[in-house]
Amino acid sequence: MHIHHTIDGLRQALAEAGRIVFVPTMGNLHAGHIGLMEQARAHGDCVVASIFVNRLQFGPSEDFDKYPRTFRDDCAKLEAAGVDHLFAPDEGEMYPSPQTYHVDPAPAHVDMLDGAARPGHFRGVATVVLKLFSIVRPQVAVFGKKDYQQLMVISNMVREFALPIDIVRGETARAEDGLALSSRNGYLSAAERAEAPRMYRQLTRIRDAVQAGERDYLKLETFAVAELAAHGWQPDYVSIRRRADLLAPRHGDGELVVLAAARLGRTRLIDNLEVNAG
Ligand code: PAJ
Repeated sequence: MHIHHTIDGLRQALAEAGRIVFVPTMGNLHAGHIGLMEQARAHGDCVVASIFVNRLQFGPSEDFDKYPRTFRDDCAKLEAAGVDHLFAPDEGEMYPSPQTYHVDPAPAHVDMLDGAARPGHFRGVATVVLKLFSIVRPQVAVFGKKDYQQLMVISNMVREFALPIDIVRGETARAEDGLALSSRNGYLSAAERAEAPRMYRQLTRIRDAVQAGERDYLKLETFAVAELAAHGWQPDYVSIRRRADLLAPRHGDGELVVLAAARLGRTRLIDNLEVNAG
């Protein structure tokens, strides 16, 4: 695997790379990220990963400084997964001067769910992803469903700017007890780790209820929020939405997703599950 810390170095190396498949990350890689790398392989000739902890997408009171940075381990995992090139710029390379041009996603897409809890987050994500796309110039890019609203924002950005990039959606990798793998799981105490799969169990309960015909979504959401709160969580939301735009389902909408975010101790966990109400 070739490691590049500069934009010029990466561009030169990719000049004749063929069909490029790109998987952006913030590092601290786990089996979920590696699954995306393996999926990427099937979509092109040259798999490019990036590791960059993007300050723009963290709020002032969020975990930018303590976000886990494990570069050596990450490189070994990417190498083992058969990644061809790693782009790992430092902040001075990505933001040599403060970034003053930004991508502002549609307010209707970001003033809700995770965007409501994290103002400016998706603007920071969209901005860095557009910049990474213009540096790497991939034909295909892979994003995980784990961050469902992020996937929607990126897909819409690609469509609205007519970027010539296919977005591939990767399934969420989970621990055996159902907990979605996340870099932030490392912040959990042993007791919190044991409690953490409750969120996924609530999502599966809602999915099963909807697929068995229940259509009182508010009742299902309210029950799940109460269950989490009763076990020491501070829920932000449990919400059944349409997959395409994450707006509230209208009568007859069949392709749904149930999304949840809640704080467990000091750690904020998110998860979601696709639901067919058809
Ligand atoms: P990061 O949180 O490192 O995630 C990188 C990619 O891995 C994202 O597409 C995310 O959805 C995916 N991912 C995370 N956990 C996963 C899991 N358990 N199963 C499958 N895929 C999973 O998302 C970001 O970084 C950043 O916002 C980024 C897009 C890199 C922009 O800075």
